[in-house]
Amino acid sequence: MESPLVALHHATKSFVDGKENHRVLNDIEFSLLPSSSVALTGASGSGKSTLLNVIAGFEPLTSGELHLDGQNTASWKDPQWSRFRHQQLGVVFQQFNLLTPLNVKQNIAFPLNLNRRSWNDWCDHLVDTLGISTLLNRHVASLSGGQQQRVAIARALAHQPKLLLADEPTGNLDQKAGMEVMALLTEIASQGNTAILLVTHSLECADFMQTRLHLQNGHLTTQDLNREPLYDLH
Ligand SMILES: Nc1ncnc2c1ncn2[C@@H]1O[C@H](COP(=O)(O)OP(=O)(O)OP(=O)(O)O)[C@@H](O)[C@H]1O
Ligand SMILES: [Mg+2]
Repeated sequence: MESPLVALHHATKSFVDGKENHRVLNDIEFSLLPSSSVALTGASGSGKSTLLNVIAGFEPLTSGELHLDGQNTASWKDPQWSRFRHQQLGVVFQQFNLLTPLNVKQNIAFPLNLNRRSWNDWCDHLVDTLGISTLLNRHVASLSGGQQQRVAIARALAHQPKLLLADEPTGNLDQKAGMEVMALLTEIASQGNTAILLVTHSLECADFMQTRLHLQNGHLTTQDLNREPLYDLH
């Protein structure tokens, strides 16, 4: 059987607030296969962004194990984390986190530069598909929320990562634009053989993914297991 790209075993994450200990993730078992797609739903504050932050290594686990690409990350130091993030990981942050001193093209090229690569045909394809090719010289701060969201998606996929973590990537778009962006995102990810873990409040967005997981009281439950995606991507 194919080994998972991401695996969490007995994963627990707690935050200490004063003297109180908040357990946000409680004994989570999770795996994501290469090129597969999972939607993560759950109420506000249920820990969806925390789960993404743990997988990206931005937050350490309190206990349990995180395996990436078959390796236990417990022994990883900064160089291993940097290598994984630069080469294998794309992240669309809930708040975009675009680099405001830079223009659109520089933002999208950022992950490529980290890998000592430069703008290429894939980037042209990405910006054409996302409808932002005329915005390349604009400063990101001057763009609308929806335009910034598309730039954030292009930046996350510019280096064709194996894993895309997307935190509400359509949260700033209206329903129609959101569906368009979801269709593009899944199509582009499928072309690059990128696995997706998508956080969303929208069941319509979740329907673009093969599997849906729900986070509640620190636990993950599976819904609609192994359903075919709504859109035929090949
Ligand atoms: N760095 C942190 N320090 C302390 N508490 C935190 C931290 N990050 C998250 N939390 C707490 O963990 C809980 C889950 O937060 P998280 O941001 O993961 O929720 P979420 O499901 O992404 O919510 P939303 O849908 O509103 O984005 C919240 O109670 C939050 O206050
Ligand atoms: Mg969140």
